[in-house]
Amino acid sequence: MSVYDLIKNRKTVYSFLEKPIKEELIIDILDAARLAPAAGGIHEYEFVVVSEKEKKDELSKICLTPNINSAPFIIVVVCDPQKLETMFGEEGDEVFCVENAALAIENILLCCAEQKLGSAWIATVNQVAVRSLLGIPENYIVRGVIPVGYPKEGGKGVYQLSKPHLKEITHIESFNNKAV
Ligand SMILES: Cc1cc2nc3c(=O)[nH]c(=O)nc-3n(C[C@H](O)[C@H](O)[C@H](O)COP(=O)(O)O)c2cc1C
Repeated sequence: MSVYDLIKNRKTVYSFLEKPIKEELIIDILDAARLAPAAGGIHEYEFVVVSEKEKKDELSKICLTPNINSAPFIIVVVCDPQKLETMFGEEGDEVFCVENAALAIENILLCCAEQKLGSAWIATVNQVAVRSLLGIPENYIVRGVIPVGYPKEGGKGVYQLSKPHLKEITHIESFNNKAV
């Protein structure tokens, strides 16, 4: 499938089949995340791969998202903003840290789609609780909790917001000249 078709077909998924996932697939997905572009070539993010049931149950509670514990794996993306601060100052700390992680996470979501796996990016998390559960040091920020598994029928995203029409968000040459 082309990248464009993958992008068109990807959807957030929160409920998963019990079907296991080959570990190599998860490794490939993380490798794709590692290869994302990064400001200054500094990859300040790291991954915690969770498959233990108790931890997945707890993550599901912390994220206030029932059913993500049904995923065989939950990938937690964390980053250490200080690694960017040396080169970019505060901007690196606050902005690039988010942007780098976002690109890595998009690679994860797209690779999942390619493998017919469902995934979701859950960013609204209790930082302290996730850090404590997974032994993540205090200087790391949790950027995403991403359940990964084969989608359960009807288990797609609860929000499924419609996307804007291209014409509504595209301007030609000048901002006051919207594409029609
Ligand atoms: C930066 C970001 C943060 C998100 N955080 C959450 C979240 O905390 N909880 C959640 O259930 N979904 C979260 N989502 C998933 C979005 O709600 C979802 O992508 C959106 O509804 C569009 O659906 P789609 O991914 O199927 O196109 C997040 C997505 C992004 C890009």
